[in-house]
Amino acid sequence: MRLLIPGCGGFIGSHFVERMLARDGVTVVGWDGETAKISHLLNHPRLVMRQRLLKGPMAYAAFEEDVASCDWIINLAAICNPSQYNTEPLRTIYANFIDGYPIVELASKYKKPLIHYSTSEVYGRTLASYVADAAYESADLYVMDAERTPMVMGPIQSQRWTYATAKQLLERLIYAYHKETGLAFAIVRPFNFFGPRMDYLPGIEGEGKPRVLAMFVAAVLRNEPMLLVDGGRARRTITSIHDAIDALVAIVDRPAQALNHFYNIGNPANEVSMRELAEGVRRAFARVSGDDRYLDHPIQEISGRDFYGEGYEDCDRRVLDISAEQARLAWTPHRGLDELLDETVRYYWQKYGARTTLRAAG
Ligand code: UGA
Repeated sequence: MRLLIPGCGGFIGSHFVERMLARDGVTVVGWDGETAKISHLLNHPRLVMRQRLLKGPMAYAAFEEDVASCDWIINLAAICNPSQYNTEPLRTIYANFIDGYPIVELASKYKKPLIHYSTSEVYGRTLASYVADAAYESADLYVMDAERTPMVMGPIQSQRWTYATAKQLLERLIYAYHKETGLAFAIVRPFNFFGPRMDYLPGIEGEGKPRVLAMFVAAVLRNEPMLLVDGGRARRTITSIHDAIDALVAIVDRPAQALNHFYNIGNPANEVSMRELAEGVRRAFARVSGDDRYLDHPIQEISGRDFYGEGYEDCDRRVLDISAEQARLAWTPHRGLDELLDETVRYYWQKYGARTTLRAAG
């Protein structure tokens, strides 16, 4: 089996490629400008790595040859960092829609099944958030079903939604190709996958504002307060990267059942507010380091505008229905929040804990 994977060098790609290369008979043809997260795999005899961006006629010609000879295309290429959606909206739209367009066209032209990684953010805000608080008692207004729930975005000036709308349009393009040309597809919407090799740790592995867990872990390692945007009221459903990879593997293993559907991939049992997540990170550091002073690591509130700049608007809550996914993929996520936080914190603790000037609070 030959898998063509644009974006193979990111967080999800690194775990998926690792898992697939462990199987005999699987060859991965990877496209990515960045390979740091897969450096441990680069010498694997069944990884054909194209360390380049999919830009320009020469790259497209080479990519087309790879499409012609592959069995599956799994598109993981994206910008998925909320701090860029309102500050670099053009780049966000290009990376998440325009750059994806030729991949969809080629999948259709060569009749290759396409697994496309989209986002849980395509739902936008919940319907419940636009009515009274009490509406959260009505599951119909907030639980996200991959093939039924409407998508609700804010106004154009709230540029947070550039990402969600670009991703949504690419989903619609794929579905249109499916209906008009017979393109076989699966669309995966990740619900906050966490694990080792997430994003980058700001101030340690790069500069900027990655997603929340990388922010919190870096803050603890650097002995700075964890910053809670808008009081940490937003809620997310947290998913272990390993449970997520199980689902992606199941799609490849069960094409007859899995293709031509949309998938919420996440663990509904792990819903937390961002304040609860920060508290969970404190506990994970205390467990992993054996030092209870981490239980008091400082937390500081900041407004969404001060943290992300103008045009930021938050998704209030992401609770997913996975009953159809469980049936089609014979898959159930089972890793709990403490387990996945411990694994992630342990990874960074072993990598950086001893080298930082860190002193636990107190
Ligand atoms: C992001 C992407 O936009 C989605 O495409 C992706 O599916 C999702 O991550 C994911 O990881 O699956 P989001 O959950 O909003 O969406 O991204 P985060 O940056 O992880 O933010 C989560 C929440 O934490 C937000 O409410 C944010 O305001 C808050 N936050 C973030 C903090 O309180 N402190 C921080 O330092 C960073």
